[in-house]
Amino acid sequence: FLNKAFFHESVDSTNQYAKSKAMDFPGASFIVVADTQSKGRGRRGRNWESLKNTGLWMSLLAKPDINPEEAPKLTLIAAAAMAKAIDEVADCNVGIKWPNDLILNGKKIGGILTELSAEPGYINYVVIGIGINTKKREFDSELRDKATSLENELLDYKMDHLRILKVFVKHFEMYYNQFVKFSDIEAVLTINREKSVTLNRTVCVETGGETSIYNAIRLDEEGRLVVLDQAGTEKTIFFGEVSVRGI
Ligand code: BTN
Repeated sequence: FLNKAFFHESVDSTNQYAKSKAMDFPGASFIVVADTQSKGRGRRGRNWESLKNTGLWMSLLAKPDINPEEAPKLTLIAAAAMAKAIDEVADCNVGIKWPNDLILNGKKIGGILTELSAEPGYINYVVIGIGINTKKREFDSELRDKATSLENELLDYKMDHLRILKVFVKHFEMYYNQFVKFSDIEAVLTINREKSVTLNRTVCVETGGETSIYNAIRLDEEGRLVVLDQAGTEKTIFFGEVSVRGI
């Protein structure tokens, strides 16, 4: 389903660049990759450090014919496809911190930022931005305990963005078609459940500035996180900000 790929030395943000090209290619889906981003963006308006050739910085723009409310499932699809791709290429076992962080040995190696342009009942386009730290490097003191890279964690791994990208696209395409054509995300849910570093843990959920603490118990059939509150009552979380205690 991908029609094009753009490879750039430097862009402000691959998400931003993809959006700027969205209307130039009506009906097309494409990928943007950059060696470095001057304004890489993380979730919640955070900056995403994207130094030259230290990671895979990419965005995938697609125009799925689905209800905009279903769009968050694309993040689960991307997480499953990327976690599997890294497992295969780097021979490791990547975890998924629901819904959009990729974890290796308890630290973050990558994140996903999904952005949507939609009208009621209709998606203009969705941009799925993924950043994976690959190169061996030192992180600043504030990130040191939280972030890592593939080369930092895996002695035998040598940075190879094209291979990760190819395997990612292969998996993503399969899950995406299954979802868009048949509303089927079973395989994606299985991977997200098996690889989850969120389930059976204490999670902090931030909604409207308030933080509540729960126990994460399962992902439901829509990919939402089901938690138990202090009183043992079930509550369903859909793509709020979740931080997992203990990681
Ligand atoms: C997060 O964990 O906060 C999400 C990080 C997403 C970073 C990627 S890098 C490629 C794409 N372009 C951006 O500006 N952000 C995403």
